[in-house]
Amino acid sequence: MAMKVLLLTAALGLATAVTLSAQQPAGAASLFAKTCASCHGAAGTPTASMKTSMGVPDFAVAATLASVPDSALRAIVMNGKGRMMPAYKSRLTPEQIATLVSYIRTFSKH
Ligand code: HEC
Repeated sequence: MAMKVLLLTAALGLATAVTLSAQQPAGAASLFAKTCASCHGAAGTPTASMKTSMGVPDFAVAATLASVPDSALRAIVMNGKGRMMPAYKSRLTPEQIATLVSYIRTFSKH
């Protein structure tokens, strides 16, 4: 009986952990908040003025990233884009950049 309860608890814990990591990789939210949200907005939508003054794209709109493969998004975060999107290859690891790319795709799924 005790064993059954223990197994059930473990299974539930695992299910929760898997769901959480599918939605947002560990640390991604705080990394994005610290590094990217000043321009992109905490939920991936820039303020109206950021949008018009700098042309910051809205990640919460599914069409924004839909046709851009992960490899291209990683390259943009590494090397920057246009005049306003900074290059992060000297400040973030490839793992952090990959994590952020998966994370920004979640904004259009809520
Ligand atoms: C100083 C403001 C600023 C910061 C900080 C910033 N971005 Fe950007 N980002 C922009 C702007 C502006 C664009 C649009 C560039 C263009 O199209 O010319 C952009 C574009 C992008 C794109 C390309 C989207 C597309 O549709 O092609 C990605 C991906 C991106 N940013 C991710 C990030 C990530 C991840 C971070 C944090 C590590 C970050 N950005 C930090 C301003 C910023």
